[in-house]
Amino acid sequence: MTPTGTEALRDLVASNLATARERTELLTGCVDDGDLVRQHSPLMSPLVWDLAHVANQEELWLLREVGGREPMRPEIDPLYDAFEHPRAERPTLPLLPPGEARAYAHEVRGRVLDLVEAATFTGARLLSGAFAFGMIAQHEQQHDETMLITHQLRKGAPALTAPPPAAPPADVPSLPREVLIPGGPFTMGTSAEPWALDNERPAHAVTVPAFYLDTTPVTNAAFAEFLADGGYDDPRWWSPAGWAHRQRTGQTAPLYWRREGSGWVRTRFGVREPVPPAEPVMHVSWYEADAYAAWAGRRLPTEAEWEKAARHDPVTGRSRRFPWGDEDPTPDRANLGQCHLQPAPAGSYPRGASPAGVRQMIGDVWEWTASDFLPYPGFSAWPYREYSEVFFGSEYKTLRGGSFGVAPVACRGTFRNWDYPIRRQIFAGFRTARDAEPPAPHPPPRPSQLPPAPGAGVSR
Ligand SMILES: [Fe+2]
Repeated sequence: MTPTGTEALRDLVASNLATARERTELLTGCVDDGDLVRQHSPLMSPLVWDLAHVANQEELWLLREVGGREPMRPEIDPLYDAFEHPRAERPTLPLLPPGEARAYAHEVRGRVLDLVEAATFTGARLLSGAFAFGMIAQHEQQHDETMLITHQLRKGAPALTAPPPAAPPADVPSLPREVLIPGGPFTMGTSAEPWALDNERPAHAVTVPAFYLDTTPVTNAAFAEFLADGGYDDPRWWSPAGWAHRQRTGQTAPLYWRREGSGWVRTRFGVREPVPPAEPVMHVSWYEADAYAAWAGRRLPTEAEWEKAARHDPVTGRSRRFPWGDEDPTPDRANLGQCHLQPAPAGSYPRGASPAGVRQMIGDVWEWTASDFLPYPGFSAWPYREYSEVFFGSEYKTLRGGSFGVAPVACRGTFRNWDYPIRRQIFAGFRTARDAEPPAPHPPPRPSQLPPAPGAGVSR
């Protein structure tokens, strides 16, 4: 995003708000009212909550904060405050029914577009570079991904369709399994990206020792080998908390996988199908990703390693906005924006490769990293503490890169996502790494005697 001038910013804001709303309407318009008000999983809100919450945040930040308008319906604010009501509790609230939620969202949007027409995007920090508008467009798209997750959890006939991604390129069989990322400093985070959120800031130098990173995300076929080798029954590969969780839940495969004959089938947006071997594995928790990596004699990359592999250009020494350069994502570079309802086969998108030749770092699946969600040096909460600051700590692991369900406006090389290590309903996979020094011939076994980690719901 490199807007110049007020008119260009107005167009950028209007087009991003319109794209987000089209997607919201698709996700809430393809099911009936009964489906909108039902809670499809205690992990998720009813779709009608997301719809009105998106509108309520838009009203709070754009009409009230930026525009100085009076509240339209102050009595509904508490219902749509994500911190006041965890997801499991939201169906019990006196939520706006679907018709009223749609009318409210429509009314807010109309007034916001009037505000955009008159805005100059200068002065207050919220207005500068149209930050508040960008934040709200990202927020709606983030809830669109959340609603897509709800659709995946929903039982019943398929409601969504999209064409499959293209077949993988012909050079995939000749791709190296891993690439070397040379050691040395690089610039992590950003101080320049106008719509970057507080946790991506500020830009700072980080020195990363040389390491090897998988060229592509780990595939279903590779993950199935871990299963076939008894990986889910062998505590040597699991962290203590991961093993305790696996024992407590009885998990034996990624979420949505079922044994059928000698193979695996899955359910994807209401369609039962064989698990595609070449596709990146998805719906695995951090614990499962970590166990697979240990079994493979490898480890998850740290967040800094991931970002260096994705952004650092060894020729210029600077960090790019995206693996391929500074240009915004296009459909030939990354699988984003719900254009497809699944990740593309491993090795796809050669035009989206990083300088070192790593593929699919942006789009397809979120990638678990080894790192806890922590602030960067010099972090300052903006525009509110509850966006990131209250989540910092060792409870959450970071995810990077975005999935097929992430919109381009909410995706960049610096973007950080976070979740509990037990979470599997998100569109998350992973890739593995290893130190550049030769690994030990056999990875050491891990003890498994710690108590299980608590599982609660992220209040987003
Ligand atoms: Fe939200």
